[in-house]
Amino acid sequence: MAEGAAKRIDDLRARIREADRAYYLLDSPVLSDAEYDRLMRELLALEEAHPALATKDSPTRRVSGEAAEGFTKVAHREPMLSLANVVSDGELDEFDARVHRLLDLPPDAPVEYVCEPKLDGLAVELVYLEGALAEGSTRGDGAVGEEVTANLRTVGGLGANAGVLARLRGRSPARLEVRGEVLLQKEHFEAMNRVLARQEKPLFANPRNAAAGSLRQLDWRVTATRPLSFVAYEALRPGEPGWTTHWAKLEALAAWGFAVNPENRLCRGMAEVKRWKDEMAERRFALPYDTDGLVVKVNGLDEQRRLGAASKFPRWAAAFKYPPQEETTRVERIWASVGRTGVLTPVAEVTPVRLGGATVSRATLHNEDELRRKDVRIGDVVLIRRAGEVIPEVVKPIPERRTGAEREFVFPSRCPVCGARVVREEGEKVHRCTGAACPAQLVGRLTHFAQRRALDVDGLGEAVAAALVANGHVHDFADLYALPAATWEEMEIAETKTGSAVKLGVPRTRRIREALERSKVATLRRLLFGLGIPQVGEATAATLARHFGTLERFLSASEDDLLGVRDVGPETAGEIRAWIDEPQNRRVVDRLVEAGLRPAAEQAPRGGAFAGKTVVLTGGLVKLSRDEAKAEVERRGGKVSGSVSRKTDLVVEGEDAGSKAEKARELGVKIVGEEEFLRMLGEGAP
Ligand code: IVH
Repeated sequence: MAEGAAKRIDDLRARIREADRAYYLLDSPVLSDAEYDRLMRELLALEEAHPALATKDSPTRRVSGEAAEGFTKVAHREPMLSLANVVSDGELDEFDARVHRLLDLPPDAPVEYVCEPKLDGLAVELVYLEGALAEGSTRGDGAVGEEVTANLRTVGGLGANAGVLARLRGRSPARLEVRGEVLLQKEHFEAMNRVLARQEKPLFANPRNAAAGSLRQLDWRVTATRPLSFVAYEALRPGEPGWTTHWAKLEALAAWGFAVNPENRLCRGMAEVKRWKDEMAERRFALPYDTDGLVVKVNGLDEQRRLGAASKFPRWAAAFKYPPQEETTRVERIWASVGRTGVLTPVAEVTPVRLGGATVSRATLHNEDELRRKDVRIGDVVLIRRAGEVIPEVVKPIPERRTGAEREFVFPSRCPVCGARVVREEGEKVHRCTGAACPAQLVGRLTHFAQRRALDVDGLGEAVAAALVANGHVHDFADLYALPAATWEEMEIAETKTGSAVKLGVPRTRRIREALERSKVATLRRLLFGLGIPQVGEATAATLARHFGTLERFLSASEDDLLGVRDVGPETAGEIRAWIDEPQNRRVVDRLVEAGLRPAAEQAPRGGAFAGKTVVLTGGLVKLSRDEAKAEVERRGGKVSGSVSRKTDLVVEGEDAGSKAEKARELGVKIVGEEEFLRMLGEGAP
């Protein structure tokens, strides 16, 4: 037993060390964070169970990442520690209970915590002497880092804020150590990878690696070309009277001129921390930078001192990690999926893994060029990633884990669905199926039409659409409205989980048919989006609907009329007019109108009841979905924002509203319930 454990421990340590090397020194990960965490947890558990096998140099005992060759080494006066991870509400409670126990607090006395988004970059330290930047370094292994002062001088801030300051603003202590994160905002990361792609150079896997790679350059001029940001989160003033709270430090940092994260938040008690954590779990995707968790820090500095630190982590802080958005898995198959416009998208079918709280078995490879550039092969272990709600994508293969049995994917020359020829036009990135009657395109068009943001036909997903097409029940959207209930009910569809055939049945049929009834009075913007007109996405559909007001006026618009629409350029205008001129398309629209579709007219937003107002929605609404409520506010000229500030005009409080409503109360912002909100909407409609 112990022998088996010893072998496993050795193996785990070797794999973790290898992963550390790839991550910290080569800025190119070979394991996903989730996989790394799993290995680390297993190693910790084994070392705990077999204390005799624990060693001082085990990766569980030290902060990873040694200083790389080529940089001058700098010792940090205070070690730069790492953070213990927690992954559930239960573990947060344990952390809170331990804080209470160690501080001798009664269990019901709430502890003040500062919550900060866990920024996904690299930690650095800046030393200011008499207010001037003297030295900047990376964290390295926590004790010794790399001196990168010249590089750091080129680093900017967040938003309009300054980044690494050459001089502190205002009164400065003799010596000040500022710590924070250097990161690359998502937008800049994407731009950087686009440039690398054009130069046919290897891409960075994620913004964190890109930031690390950009900062750890031997020539600062290279760093200067990379739009890095520095966000400060820690200040140390050795030998001088300190602050009493962490929050006060953050305020001092801001006063000196540093960018401090505006999303930081002071919470009383763990319940408030959890509410904020849940809110950030969604909001984080809309932030301009990557964050994979929430750092929770005891606010009182005296309390922090009393809690102290274990070998690697302070006991006064923990990092809540959101479900991983990045995972490694194996590509089992690659195939070309045919979309509603006939575009063939290479899709990797992967060994199912948990990602962002869901099980994922497919990831997109975008197009042939991407596939070739990334050199993803069947059988490869790959890094897949999901950001927000979009489909996961294959980020890169991990060539170190190849066995030699991997095979390249050959792009099909015939459509896998209808057998028609596949072409790639000059100058185009994509392959297209040339089959005009290709059922895959029809299935894609139907699911696009039925999706929530379009006609919202609840219950009509891919499996149902595929069955409708395969059975010849539906040739265009209008057929959906003419199909008798009995046909729906008897139709056999493939169960998503098992793939076995089941009848659609009465309840599901009813759900779909009711949704179809409701869709008859959907707004014009939804219909225009749902029709799948080339170049017309959600935003353009909304603009067109507002501009023309009715379907009739849209259909009779000339190319010149279309050019008069805000944000519609010549290419889009041409595509729209060509679409309307196609007799097939006109016939479908006419038949939809015959079926009873009466798209609701849109009002111009100016002068609406919410004109110029900023509204925040919080908690669950009963009568409207969030998307609908947002659309209603926008139609009346208002704006919906995700967070409450002094600029908020109105907060709509639904069920189980949390911290936003509280904040609104604190700030004295007007709050209304759902009923009142609906009344306001009613008044707003002319
Ligand atoms: S505080 C002892 N605050 O997380 C306190 N760290 O796992 C440790 N990080 O090396 C640092 N955002 O790179 C702190 N708001 C934040 C952070 C943060 C990201 C990173 C940092 C650190 C690592 C610790």
